[in-house]
Amino acid sequence: ESTRAAHPPVTVTVTGAGGQIGYALLFRIAAGDMLGASTPVRLRLLEVPQGLASAEGAALELQDGAFPLLESLEVTDSPERAFDVTNIALLVGSRPRTAGMERADLLAANGGIFGPQGAALNAHAADDVRVLVVGNPANTNALIAQQNAPDIPADRFTALTRLDHNRALAQLAAKLEVPVSSVRDVTIWGNHSTTQYPDVFHALAEERPVRDLVDEAWLAEEFIPRVAGRGAEIIDARGSSSAASAASAAIDHVRDWVHGTRNGWTSVALPSTGAYGVPEGIVSSFPVHSIDGRWVVVEGLDVNAFSRRRIDLSVDELLEERAAVAARGLLPS
Ligand code: NAD
Ligand code: LMR
Repeated sequence: ESTRAAHPPVTVTVTGAGGQIGYALLFRIAAGDMLGASTPVRLRLLEVPQGLASAEGAALELQDGAFPLLESLEVTDSPERAFDVTNIALLVGSRPRTAGMERADLLAANGGIFGPQGAALNAHAADDVRVLVVGNPANTNALIAQQNAPDIPADRFTALTRLDHNRALAQLAAKLEVPVSSVRDVTIWGNHSTTQYPDVFHALAEERPVRDLVDEAWLAEEFIPRVAGRGAEIIDARGSSSAASAASAAIDHVRDWVHGTRNGWTSVALPSTGAYGVPEGIVSSFPVHSIDGRWVVVEGLDVNAFSRRRIDLSVDELLEERAAVAARGLLPS
């Protein structure tokens, strides 16, 4: 009896593969959680030279997992090699925030990584490449990569706000004492930062409108700060930034992109085409469905004054980040 999988293999590149998120992500990918149980995976792990030993250690353990779907595995410090004919690029590699640091501090530290990686993707990736930026500041790093990859359609570049989306679902489920699987149609708008706006005005819990079950004071004083501040809460608790939950959200993001959304919409940061008054080009989070392998922004949602104010605040921050990286010469003119 043949044990061969039914689908052609997919090449997946993980940058920062020797780091914390990498360690949580690689085994889920190899196990088939991201692309499904019938899709073999060719894994490419990219690290900087000082991270190679750790990535090579993870590769040894991946080998020891004897994953039936893991068709090949390569560790490299060459972006050209890592992105060669890649179908899915998970850009995790960058420095995480530590206690007391704000994301703006990371612009300086990490902005320089994503221009060259965008250019390498542009030159070497497969025609159908999909890119997910996890490394912070994720939205603006995605913008830098996208702007440096002029031959790749802009909508293939995304940044991770699925972790924020999942955090919002979980906080609502806890508050309303319902299963998390019964909560849907939450939206994260804007930046993956403390200005993000987790919007519940269209959300349902056990098919009941959430807006009828919670009040604005709870939203403004507890829910929104808890979700937006969760990254810092985890850093304080763990002494390092979220890893397994971030990896899990990245798996959810790519799985839905490839296989379609279920149970309502999700949240993805992607280059704005002007929807909901978000200026074109910046990588901002929206409510989206995944249809036939593409993200489609949910149209026609009513945006009330409470929401508008908060969306605009986060979008303003993204515009400031864009101006800051442009001033550093990180965006091609
Ligand atoms: P980590 O320090 O454990 O690992 C990062 C790895 O990236 C290191 O091994 C480092 O050597 C490598 N690296 C650095 N520059 C690189 C480059 N140019 N090419 C390839 N590899 C490179 O950090 P982590 O905890 O895995 O976090 C990674 C990033 O993800 C951080 O920026 C963190 O803030 C971010 N993050 C984002 C989210 C999100 O929801 N968007 C959630 C959690 C963490
Ligand atoms: C998170 O949301 O957990 C990460 O982006 C880490 C951070 O710096 O907040």
